[in-house]
Amino acid sequence: MTLVRNFRYDDLDRIADIVSASLGEYYPKSLYLEKSHDWEDGFIVGLVEGKLVAMLLGVVQGRFETRILMFAVERQYRKRGIGHELMQKFIELSLKRGATKISLEVRRSNIDAIRFYEKFGFQNTGVLFMYYSDLEDGLKMAKTL
Ligand SMILES: CC(C)(COP(=O)(O)OP(=O)(O)OC[C@H]1O[C@@H](n2cnc3c(N)ncnc32)[C@H](O)[C@@H]1OP(=O)(O)O)[C@@H](O)C(=O)NCCC(=O)NCCS
Repeated sequence: MTLVRNFRYDDLDRIADIVSASLGEYYPKSLYLEKSHDWEDGFIVGLVEGKLVAMLLGVVQGRFETRILMFAVERQYRKRGIGHELMQKFIELSLKRGATKISLEVRRSNIDAIRFYEKFGFQNTGVLFMYYSDLEDGLKMAKTL
């Protein structure tokens, strides 16, 4: 059973560890707080038996759009449906906020994540050439709600 809830300040060390291991980026706590400032509800975490194992940070992008900035499940907890639960919750939160679209960017080589998003109805909407710090291309994806 996964518990999905809003992030709390004291989750931030754990969130930063999951992000750094899963996405290869280490961000200071201040960045999470800054990004979640406009829409705190859009920052959610997943817990299994009380342990925080997943995070999704979504932001608002204009009046009718939300955007997934970071999404990661700790490696040993993947492929159990935890990502699905977080995405389902994020879709609900986006609808509640009045959004008609969710957008995101993903590395072109991240086939697992791209397939995961496609199963949720996200479609490729463009390429961001050399988007990442190592110059890998990004894929823009979006889902209409
Ligand atoms: C993308 C990501 C968040 C998905 O999280 P997840 O918890 O593994 O997602 P789910 O378990 O809900 O679904 C993943 C797959 O496992 C399958 N699955 C779910 N529950 C399962 C179960 N009990 N048994 C077997 N397979 C299962 C799903 O059908 C899905 O299959 P698919 O890959 O063929 O679509 C995760 O892979 C991740 O953190 N990746 C690294 C970071 C990353 O790339 N983030 C996205 C950057 S934009």
